[in-house]
Amino acid sequence: MQQRRTAGVAGRGQASPGLRRSTVSAERAAARIVVRKYGGQRRAVIQILQDLQERLRWLAPETLEAVALELKMPPAHVTSVATFYKSFSLAPRGRHICTVCMGTACHVRGGATVLEHFERKLGLRAGQTSPDREVTLERVNCLGACALAPLAVIDGRYHGQMNESKADKVLQPILRAGGPAPDAGSGPEDGEAL
Ligand code: FES
Repeated sequence: MQQRRTAGVAGRGQASPGLRRSTVSAERAAARIVVRKYGGQRRAVIQILQDLQERLRWLAPETLEAVALELKMPPAHVTSVATFYKSFSLAPRGRHICTVCMGTACHVRGGATVLEHFERKLGLRAGQTSPDREVTLERVNCLGACALAPLAVIDGRYHGQMNESKADKVLQPILRAGGPAPDAGSGPEDGEAL
């Protein structure tokens, strides 16, 4: 697992007290199920956070708080684990994850043009999630499949030799399902994935 270079937390809105209470309760329930799956073992905290991120798509402050309560650990310890590894997302992520590689091989073969096209089509900058939480656009530095450069990954599926017309094709189902409005994203501009 890669370590987080920066522990950025962005894109969280303010919930009303009522909403916050129900969110905390839902997070606690999810944390309880996952912590039980690991027998309440504190040493499994990383796997517990991974499981929760898989279920919830990101780790909200309430989720970290709930894990600390369930494991009877100091909340600061759970938070420090979540911020240490950059594979943990501390900002909301969309239902669809679009990742464009900007590693050297992809960059020299047109990765920047591909990323710009994704940004234009989705109306998001790299690192942003649409307000309806449908789509997140991310950029990474190398996905380890340089022979496929330039590479984009849509919901876990690799699409090599990416270009503008291929991008239009792979993004069509997402955009047809009512994707984000142009220039409507929120979140950091240079978010990091996995
Ligand atoms: S540089 Fe893009 S996969 Fe390696």
